[in-house]
Amino acid sequence: MPSQDYHYVNDLIILKKKHHLIKHIDDSLPTPEIHGTKVWGSSFLIMDYLEEHPPATFSEILEVGCGWGLLGIHCAKTYEADVTAVDADPHVFPYLDAHSVINDVELDTLTARYEDLKIKDMKGYDMVLGGDICFWDDLVEPLFSMVKKAVKAKVGTIIIADPGRSPFLKLAKLCQKEFNAELLERTVRKPRKIEGNLLVIKA
Ligand SMILES: C[S@@+](CC[C@H](N)C(=O)[O-])C[C@H]1O[C@@H](n2cnc3c(N)ncnc32)[C@H](O)[C@@H]1O
Repeated sequence: MPSQDYHYVNDLIILKKKHHLIKHIDDSLPTPEIHGTKVWGSSFLIMDYLEEHPPATFSEILEVGCGWGLLGIHCAKTYEADVTAVDADPHVFPYLDAHSVINDVELDTLTARYEDLKIKDMKGYDMVLGGDICFWDDLVEPLFSMVKKAVKAKVGTIIIADPGRSPFLKLAKLCQKEFNAELLERTVRKPRKIEGNLLVIKA
């Protein structure tokens, strides 16, 4: 594979838009409709946090609003986690599948909205993770409701990351009040300089 067609970050192979597999998906399948058109930066903030606070080997992890799923793929590859990747938009999954194959891991995928996830769906998961998922005001309530259900389901750790958009900060405020959540600042330098916040909720 020509090196200019992919990045290698945190032990992950991430295909660039010009890679022939990505071009093939772009040309032959429907385009993702809710911003799942690339790998967003906040997932790298969570990967960096997990390096200091690693999940136990074989943890059960739910990645919500997964898009291309690189965060979940990283957890499967680095921590041998059992990952379910959830997104409202099924058109993201061909990109996730291409990255799973190329990184030699398998993930379960599920088409569902945050608000569709029930307490019973989240039971048994050790972590719920999501990068760049709270970017509109009307996502605050569904995500807060999802967090409440995850806490009731006794998910040990919930982490949502964002550059600091106002809907995310609203969600953070609600979670700080209700669950004593932490709001942490984080910066990474790879694949580029990315700055943002981590919202960490411990059940
Ligand atoms: C900005 S992208 C981030 C994707 C990925 N987490 C990343 O870091 O690259 C937001 C993702 O959330 C998904 N999404 C938006 N609204 C959603 C909802 N209500 N329920 C589930 N997924 C949703 C989109 O389809 C998209 O893949």
